[in-house]
Amino acid sequence: MPFAAAIPFLREWMRSPRSVAAVLPSGQALASLITKDISAVTGPVLELGPGTGVFTQALLARGVRQQDLTLIEYGSDFARLLQRRFPEARVLWMDAALLDRHELYRDAPVGAVVCGLGFLNMPQEKIAAIVKGAFRYLRQDGAFYFFTYGERCSVPDAVLAELDLEATHVGKTFRNVPPAPVYRITRRWPGQG
Ligand SMILES: C[S@@+](CC[C@H](N)C(=O)[O-])C[C@H]1O[C@@H](n2cnc3c(N)ncnc32)[C@H](O)[C@@H]1O
Repeated sequence: MPFAAAIPFLREWMRSPRSVAAVLPSGQALASLITKDISAVTGPVLELGPGTGVFTQALLARGVRQQDLTLIEYGSDFARLLQRRFPEARVLWMDAALLDRHELYRDAPVGAVVCGLGFLNMPQEKIAAIVKGAFRYLRQDGAFYFFTYGERCSVPDAVLAELDLEATHVGKTFRNVPPAPVYRITRRWPGQG
């Protein structure tokens, strides 16, 4: 990673360590793993906590159109940087826990959610609000991808059960600091509701 790419991240981390939750942006290996099932046919993609846009760039490389991207970012400097880097994407400076309170899309057209949020630093109620809000916009066959630095899935079983969702381990990369497993959450009963 070029040193210059780490500077905005480090600056934001010093200002808000709990929210940023990592000292450096994710590496290319994790970006490649978390986006591996996504392609030009996925359609609209919602990204939560893009930071400096490492996953965003990987999504574009997979064939997702910039105008099909909605980027939800809480850090104001990150949000400004993202809008400069991806001028055709929709960048929203907001808390991902409030997804459900806004009408981001008409109906549910989203094929994939890519989530870079640090769930390990969040209370269970906030994780539940974020996952619930994201699934409001996901198609029946859509999936929610996220990574963790922990040993197990960072979305608690109670949240998955309450929302009728299931998590699958997608893979783990050791070429990231620290190593990170990626999970995919889908509806337990797609086609219902
Ligand atoms: C661990 S960093 C990951 C950044 C980037 N996805 C990466 O992998 O390099 C978490 C990001 O989520 C953002 N964030 C934290 N809490 C948030 C929230 N409630 N809503 C939206 N973004 C949030 C932070 O500002 C930061 O950009």
